[in-house]
Amino acid sequence: MITMSVSRVKMHLGALESVSSAAISVSMYNAYFGFSESPFSLSPDPAFFYRSEQHEEALANLIYGVQSRKGFIVLTGEVGTGKTTMLECLRDFLDSQYIEFAFIFNSRISSDQFFEMIAYDLDLRCERKSKTEVLFALNSLLLTQADQGRTTVLIVDEAHNLEWEVLEEIRLLGNLENRRGKLIQVILAGQPELDRKLEAPNLRQLKQRIVLRCNLEPFSADDTAHYVAARLEKAGLPDQTVFTPEMLADIHLRAQGIPRLINAICDNLLLTCFALETKVATVSMLDEVSKDMRLEWAGRRPRGERARYSRETLEETPFYTRGGE
Ligand SMILES: Nc1ncnc2c1ncn2[C@@H]1O[C@H](COP(=O)(O)OP(=O)(O)OP(=O)(O)O)[C@@H](O)[C@H]1O
Ligand SMILES: [Mg+2]
Repeated sequence: MITMSVSRVKMHLGALESVSSAAISVSMYNAYFGFSESPFSLSPDPAFFYRSEQHEEALANLIYGVQSRKGFIVLTGEVGTGKTTMLECLRDFLDSQYIEFAFIFNSRISSDQFFEMIAYDLDLRCERKSKTEVLFALNSLLLTQADQGRTTVLIVDEAHNLEWEVLEEIRLLGNLENRRGKLIQVILAGQPELDRKLEAPNLRQLKQRIVLRCNLEPFSADDTAHYVAARLEKAGLPDQTVFTPEMLADIHLRAQGIPRLINAICDNLLLTCFALETKVATVSMLDEVSKDMRLEWAGRRPRGERARYSRETLEETPFYTRGGE
């Protein structure tokens, strides 16, 4: 079969209409496969949340930590492993329980901006640019919530980027408590550098207050296969036959079990299938897509040599066995 590189497929599709090629291609392949929505969008949409054992456990821990007023909780994971998606699920949970929260997703901020964002998110009635006023209003909100048997949550995504002074302010917020526990539950999510940052001597007081830690690893091969099937099913294609089990194992290997990469690969494969008018993805398409995405993976063959993975080869690779043991 003749294959086209993804960029050529996009150019080809883009030439058909004057709107953006990405918009055309996604809506066209959705119609071609009968999807009600895009199965491999890169947005952290909780509706597509796949509950692998570790994701399920981590989410349960976050919820437990909030409900039991544990104080500080840290969620770490490599780039693209699902931290923000999980925080979005937590946000849905908090909404459903009418729990007040502030969600800070831009962590490259000064401490003044930090207090301003908290005041904005929690809708504090005060002069938002004055740290003293924000702290006063925040304290009053926390006490009112606590009197009603409720807690309040501060979620910080990308926390590995936080300035030291902002981390120190967060630590001080964590000191607010009444007899029944912490008044504010703080969830810090970030890449593994966050753990290293928290090891710094000047943050040992904050480190001591962390009562729960969750870490997201890349998917196991089994999870990758179930994840792809679950996303396709959610988009309207149950019992998918686009990706054979061998293909899924190969996708897992090349994406190293990282959900964001799995999404990008599958999205590009669906687009290629659509352009070539087939409903089954092939290894040569995957080779093209991998080349376009400049993927590097363990056990990669030199260019030109077709990758063919026996079960033994797959099991020898660290990414295949990790988490799947
Ligand atoms: N458990 C999951 N269920 C469904 N989709 C997921 C899951 N984990 C990750 N994804 C998908 O993978 C992509 C990346 O996820 P997300 O943005 O949450 O990763 P992240 O860990 O926050 O990455 P970064 O470190 O770059 O901030 C998103 O498209 C998301 O939908
Ligand atoms: Mg993220």
